[in-house]
Amino acid sequence: MALFIHHVAQSNTSDRLFLTEKNEPLETLKLNQEALEFVKNQRDKLKKELIELNQFGGIQFLLFFDKEMDEAKRLEWCRKQGAQVNKSANSNGISTLLLETKSDAAAEILAVAEGLALSNYQFHKYRKDAADKKNSLEKLEILADINLKKLEHLIIAVEANCWARDLVNEPLNKLSAVDLAEQISTKFRAVGGKAEVFNKQKIEALKMGGLLSVNKGSIDPPTFTILEWKPENAKNTKPVVLVGKGVVYDTGGLSLKPSNAMDTMKCDMGGAATVAASIFAVASAKLPLHVIALVPATDNRPDGNAYVPGDVITMFDGTTVEVLNTDAEGRLILADALTYAKKFSPEIVFNFATLTGAAARAIGSQGIVAMEVKAADLFCDLAQSGNLVHERLVKFPMWDEYREQLRSEIADLKNIGGPEGGAITAGKFLEHFTDYPFVHFDIAGPAFIEKRDSYRGIGGTGTGVRLMFHYLNEYANKL
Ligand code: BES
Ligand code: ZN
Ligand code: ZN
Repeated sequence: MALFIHHVAQSNTSDRLFLTEKNEPLETLKLNQEALEFVKNQRDKLKKELIELNQFGGIQFLLFFDKEMDEAKRLEWCRKQGAQVNKSANSNGISTLLLETKSDAAAEILAVAEGLALSNYQFHKYRKDAADKKNSLEKLEILADINLKKLEHLIIAVEANCWARDLVNEPLNKLSAVDLAEQISTKFRAVGGKAEVFNKQKIEALKMGGLLSVNKGSIDPPTFTILEWKPENAKNTKPVVLVGKGVVYDTGGLSLKPSNAMDTMKCDMGGAATVAASIFAVASAKLPLHVIALVPATDNRPDGNAYVPGDVITMFDGTTVEVLNTDAEGRLILADALTYAKKFSPEIVFNFATLTGAAARAIGSQGIVAMEVKAADLFCDLAQSGNLVHERLVKFPMWDEYREQLRSEIADLKNIGGPEGGAITAGKFLEHFTDYPFVHFDIAGPAFIEKRDSYRGIGGTGTGVRLMFHYLNEYANKL
C-alpha cells in the first residue's frame, strides 16, 4: 500500500538502488572485481540501464540515467524504472529499500521514488486473500542531497493520487453520491479544510435542474459538495475553483448503454475524485492559495421517474435544455456547478470530467483532452506541468462554429451535438454556463485503464491530481 518514504543521512539497509549518470566511473560503487566486470559488460556493451545483482548481503539495483535526455522524458524514464524496480523488490520480498545517489540527481532520485511508490498501490480490500497478495515493500529510504520540501510534496502527491484511485475503484454499491460527499468532506476536514454538503432538499431549493433531472431515475439522493481551502496567507485574491463530475455510476439512463460499455462506468466520478484529491493535496501542503472544489454527484439510472429524451429541463441559471440523450448527463450536472462557481468570481475554473467517449477515442488513455476559454496564457503553464508530471494535455479547439450543433428548436440548447467532434461540443455546452477564464479537462480516456500500465497500475489512475498539484504549486510560487 502507500509506502513510507523518508530521507536518511546514513543507512544499514542491505537492499539498495544506486542511481548514477550512465557515463560515471563505476568504481564509486565499491563492487568486488567480479561484479565490476559484470556490470561494465552489462552497462557499456549490452547498454543495459537497470542491472540487478546480489552483493553486500542484499539485492543491488544499479540504475544508469542519461543526463542528456530532455527533462520531462528523463523524469518519466525514472518513474518507469521505479515501477520496474518495484516489481522486482516485491517478488523478492523486500520490505525496505534504500535509494541512493552521489550524483547531482535530486530530481531523478525523487522521480524514481515516485514511480516506486505509485506502482506499490493495490486495491484488494474486497479480496479474501488480500493479506497474501499484499506487497512486501513498505518503506523507502532516500540517501541523497534532496530538497525536503520537494520530498514532502512528493509524499503528498502520492497519497492524494492513491486516494483518488481508491475512490474510482469503489463500485457503486459501496459508494453512492451520499457516500462520496461524506468521504471527501471527512478526509478534507482532517487536513484543516472546510466542507459543506448540500442534500437533495437544499439542491431542490436552489433549483439545480441539471443535477435534479439526472437524479430523477435514481432512488438515491444527489449531493452537491463544496470544499474550501482559504489560508490566511493566501496570495490570490480571487479563488481558483475546481469542478469535478461526480456521476457515481453511469448506466446511460433511459438511453441505456450496451452492457460492455457499462462495465467500467463506476469510474464516472473520476473528475470528482481528481478535484477532491487535488484540493486535499493543496491543503495537506498548506499552499498559500485560496482554492474551492465543487462536486455535483448522483448516479444516472433508468428507474420509474427517469428523465426521458425529449424532456425540456430548466437549469440552475434558467437556461432551458432539450434532453435528446440521457447518456449526455455529465454536462447537465456540471453546468449547474459551473453556474454556482460564478458566485465566487473565480480567477480561473478547472473542470475535470470523464465526459465523452469521443475524447477517449481521439487520443486513448495516454493524455488528457483539454479545452480553454479566456485562458490561453495560463494554458502554457498547465501544458508545461502536464509534460513534467507526464499527464500530458492535448488542446482541442473551442471554435464558435461548433456551438451551432447545440441549437434546439424548442429550447435554449440541446444536450448533444452531431456525430462529429463530440468532445468539443460537450465543451461548448459547458462554456455556455461560464463567464470566467475556464479550462475543461476531459479525462474519459485516462481516468480508468483496464490493462496494467507501469506506475499507473490498473483500474482508477487518479489522472489529473499530480497535474493540478504541480500546477497550483508553481502558480503559488509565481504570485
Ligand atoms: N460517462 C460517459 C463518457 C465516458 C465514456 C467516460 C467512456 C469514460 C469512458 C458520458 O456520460 C457519456 O455517456 N457520453 C456520451 C455522450 C453522447 C451521448 C453525446 C458518449 O460519449 O457517448
Ligand atoms: Zn453518460
Ligand atoms: Zn457519464
